[in-house]
Amino acid sequence: MAGRVALVTGGVRGIGAAVAVMLKARGYKVAANYHGADDPAVAFTTRTGISHYKWDVSDFDACQKGVAQITAAIGPIEVLVNNAGITKDGVMHKMTKEQWDDVIRVNLSSVFYMSRSVIEGMRTRGFGRIVSISSINGQSGQFGQTNYSASKAGIIGFTKALAQESAIKGITVNVVAPGYTSTEMVRAMDPAIVEKITSKIPVGRLGQPEEIARAVCFLASDNGGYITGSTLSINGGQYLA
Ligand code: CAA
Repeated sequence: MAGRVALVTGGVRGIGAAVAVMLKARGYKVAANYHGADDPAVAFTTRTGISHYKWDVSDFDACQKGVAQITAAIGPIEVLVNNAGITKDGVMHKMTKEQWDDVIRVNLSSVFYMSRSVIEGMRTRGFGRIVSISSINGQSGQFGQTNYSASKAGIIGFTKALAQESAIKGITVNVVAPGYTSTEMVRAMDPAIVEKITSKIPVGRLGQPEEIARAVCFLASDNGGYITGSTLSINGGQYLA
């Protein structure tokens, strides 16, 4: 598996950054996509030596161009980690169409856009790994997150279908569903709400990004070759799917 090319979307911060760093440590040639402020991306590259590529994963043309750019720079993408995601929380009776559309586009449509951009090459080469990051809240539902929960549940259905289409071509397609993990996304929440949620986690603490990254690396590796269409929950026992 050493030397394989891996692309991590949303790969310069949080869970994505932990995945990118761990893949690199295991010998992959890694590219990290991002679409926000440039400073964290530059700092990430300085710190890790992993190149950053800026585009909006909710834009299909941009995804295709980004994949072509990385392919030209380091080779065809063999491992795709669909990690980029956002929240725009609010109760449904107050949610705007924009809150709904933005979250569905960035979290779910992106998974189609990115997978569609790499799948033909994977099929031709007879090897591929697609690992998408869902969430406990796509499995359990979450008050204030109809948009996010729908997007993250959608990833699971998408994965089950694509896994069936791709198995014969040596491509596995899986989901990792983290619980509440210590990242900027969770740190942006009201601390009182986080405290309330943490008190309901049997393990008694938030997850760490590296605990999610280890599972992604396993599914990406040759050792994960017989696992496809599955969802691996990593949530400290908070929700038993
Ligand atoms: N269950 C039941 N009722 C709840 C509730 C819950 N979990 N949370 C709030 N309520 C109730 C409140 O008690 C309140 O009731 P009253 O009107 O009778 O007082 C009512 O709902 C409205 O609550 P708020 O005043 O808090 O409403 P708000 O509009 O200010 O905020 C909210 C609503 C944005 C959804 C806020 O409750 C919130 O941020 N909830 C957390 C959402 C969450 O977990 N997000 C996860 C982000 S991290 C992530 O998504 C990563 C991942 O994958 C895990």
